[in-house]
Amino acid sequence: MPVGTVLVTGGTGYIGSFTTLALLDAGYDVVIVDSLYNSSKVALDRIELLAGRRPDFYQIDITDEKALDEVFAKHPSIDSVIHFAALKAVGESSVIPLEYYRVNVGGSIALLQSMSRNNVTNIVFSSSATVYGDATRFPNMIPIPEHCPIGPTNTYGRTKSMIEDVISDYINAQRNNLEKEGKPFQQWNGALLRYFNPCGAHPSGIMGEDPQGVPFNLLPLLGQVATGQREKLLVYGEDYPSRDGTAIRDYIHVVDLARGHLVALNYLRANQPGVKAWNLGSGRGSTVFEIVKAFSAVVGRDLKYEVVARRAGDVLDLTANPTLANTELNWKTELTMEKACEDLWRWVSNNPQGYRQEPPAE
Ligand code: NAD
Ligand code: WQD
Repeated sequence: MPVGTVLVTGGTGYIGSFTTLALLDAGYDVVIVDSLYNSSKVALDRIELLAGRRPDFYQIDITDEKALDEVFAKHPSIDSVIHFAALKAVGESSVIPLEYYRVNVGGSIALLQSMSRNNVTNIVFSSSATVYGDATRFPNMIPIPEHCPIGPTNTYGRTKSMIEDVISDYINAQRNNLEKEGKPFQQWNGALLRYFNPCGAHPSGIMGEDPQGVPFNLLPLLGQVATGQREKLLVYGEDYPSRDGTAIRDYIHVVDLARGHLVALNYLRANQPGVKAWNLGSGRGSTVFEIVKAFSAVVGRDLKYEVVARRAGDVLDLTANPTLANTELNWKTELTMEKACEDLWRWVSNNPQGYRQEPPAE
């Protein structure tokens, strides 16, 4: 008997595929919905190769409520949802904001409505540290605790903080309305997981990040420099008030992050109803130069870079205070940023074309 059945939206994507693997390994059945906008079905083969089981898969758009209803009807055992499906390119979000609000916010509303109609009441949501914006504008907010005021500085971040509000308002309204009516009710549970900087790949070299277009995050770009697909890394700014002048981020191994979803889901299914936000980060900040050094060390040679001006919208320091997740979810990172570099290098050197080639022999 499975522990339960989970609908994973965006489950063929980077973090969704690792979370699906963690859920299957923990005994859950998984049903994935994804439009394949930024992922490929090959992820399902790699999940199966590692888990020995294949999740069910439906290629549908998250804004399509009717299609979501059909999936719930076909899988009445689904009792929880982990919601990853979204557009996530910060730069693009300010160029086509309506599309970001339509897919991210509209898609989340469609999902909640369909969940509600189908009596599915547990939701784990992919939020982001980007909802905090520049936490250095407040005293004593680095490392960043969950009570740091929200203040996203870009459209993508605003979609995430809006969805947090939509989920919270809905869950709180459910309780208030039904309590007022004195009716028996199934209370909703929600986890808003604010990830810091996810990175790395599966230690086997079989599963990793495979975006459909050009990557824009630091480590995938460094990976392309190492495989010769890119001439050099552009380091955005050396004039930050940090230990070496470059900006600080909290890099979290995707395997740790996936486990964070599993423990959050287990917590929701076992504890008091309601909605709560948790930071998923390591608590350790690394500068851009420290990342370049760590990745060069695993590659075994210096990687070419050039310092250019700061990137618009970047902030000095996004380091998590993960105490709440450590204590309440009993979750903490086990894998270091150096281990993420090692696993990423195994992934990109074995699969320079991502999922568009055969997996390496185990
Ligand atoms: P990803 O692009 O690899 O995964 C997102 C998945 O959603 C993809 O498989 C994509 O095809 C799918 N999708 C996009 N639009 C869709 C739609 N309209 N209908 C159905 N599916 C759709 O990204 P990821 O890095 O795995 O991110 C997963 C989630 O985590 C996203 O919500 C993202 O905003 C959030 N997040 C990511 C990061 C990060 O740095 N990777 C950090 C914080 C939060
Ligand atoms: C990391 C550091 C850059 C590229 C973004 C989103 C955030 C979350 C994670 C989704 C920064 C520097 C980068 C390059 C560089 N995603 N850099 N040269 O900006 O911290 O966070 O991804 O939710 O919401 O904003 O991540 O990997 O782009 O950058 O010098 O070519 O590397 O300036 O200091 P970021 P990143």
